[in-house]
Amino acid sequence: MPDVHFASDNNAGVHPDILAALTSANQGHVPGYGDDEYTQRAERAFRALLGDDARVFFAFNGTGANVVALAAGLRPYQSVICPEAAHLAVDECGAYERFAGAKLIDVPVENGKLTPDDVERRMRGIGDQHHVQPGAISISQSTEVGTVYTVAELRALGEVARKSDLLFHVDGARLANAAVALGVDLRTLLLETGVDVCTFGGTKNGLMFGEAIVFPKYHPAVDALLYTRKQGMQLASKMRFVAVQFEALLHDDLWRRNAAQANAMARLLAARLRDLDDVVQLAYPVEANGVFAVLPLDAVEPLQRERRFYMWDAQRGVARWMTAWDTTEQDVHTFADAVWRIAPPQKRVPTKVDA
Ligand SMILES: Cc1ncc(COP(=O)(O)O)c(C=O)c1O
Repeated sequence: MPDVHFASDNNAGVHPDILAALTSANQGHVPGYGDDEYTQRAERAFRALLGDDARVFFAFNGTGANVVALAAGLRPYQSVICPEAAHLAVDECGAYERFAGAKLIDVPVENGKLTPDDVERRMRGIGDQHHVQPGAISISQSTEVGTVYTVAELRALGEVARKSDLLFHVDGARLANAAVALGVDLRTLLLETGVDVCTFGGTKNGLMFGEAIVFPKYHPAVDALLYTRKQGMQLASKMRFVAVQFEALLHDDLWRRNAAQANAMARLLAARLRDLDDVVQLAYPVEANGVFAVLPLDAVEPLQRERRFYMWDAQRGVARWMTAWDTTEQDVHTFADAVWRIAPPQKRVPTKVDA
């Protein structure tokens, strides 16, 4: 099988600048648990993007970052309203429910996106001692199906969160891809939209490991985060090695450049498939670094024998193809050629690729 596949953006390696940063931090002794120069510099780099009131906490992984961020803001009798395909709800093995002992209310949505109306319809039983009390909304930006909330959509969610006294949490495992797709900076994406706390993904965007939990401005949950992070086993003793990676990622817009490459390669893959659209259709708009294609069912297995990827919805034949910071045009063409070869030729429209 080719080295580069399209199974997940976390299947990619580490960006050379990040590896260099890790090596540069590998000198001498420094205090542990974040009380070091590297961590302070990385925090400053975030504040340079968001303003002096921003607070940042580094964590090992995305699941842990989501869980401890939400647990910092909520009581066990409060629920989190999220889309039904949220990573938090389906891909974290019930970590939040176990750790926080609290309920997720997962809502069927279109194109992976929660709407204010979805939220308002779940604001039930407020003040009733028999009912769990809605405490937060959690969305992913970009979403699990590769779509991106517009700034206006985020603002509307922020507004409903503020009005209903809900914590507005964003799972930003792919926040960089969304920022680049929208062409906006972090202030616009987070501060102007009323996001209370988000994760800022590193692992999928060129880091060896590491995610940041970001409060764009003061929120009372900040005061609990130090403790939920430690209880949640997300506090690194050798923090400098997480922090220095973020410092390098934010330096000279590497986070944006990496995400831009991944997004561009998803667009290219979608463009190559569009020629095939009597056979292969896109299940969701391609807005970030994921392409979700509906394959003829008899093409799935042969393609998976040649290329590694996951099925998003095996019954409907929806394949999930993710691009990463290191995906090249050549990788995309080789992959698209395989799709062309394997999707039933008799149903194809002849194009230049067949010629
Ligand atoms: C939307 C989303 N959130 C969070 C994560 C974080 O996962 P992990 O705990 O594997 O770092 C992922 C990884 O696949 C993801 O896709």
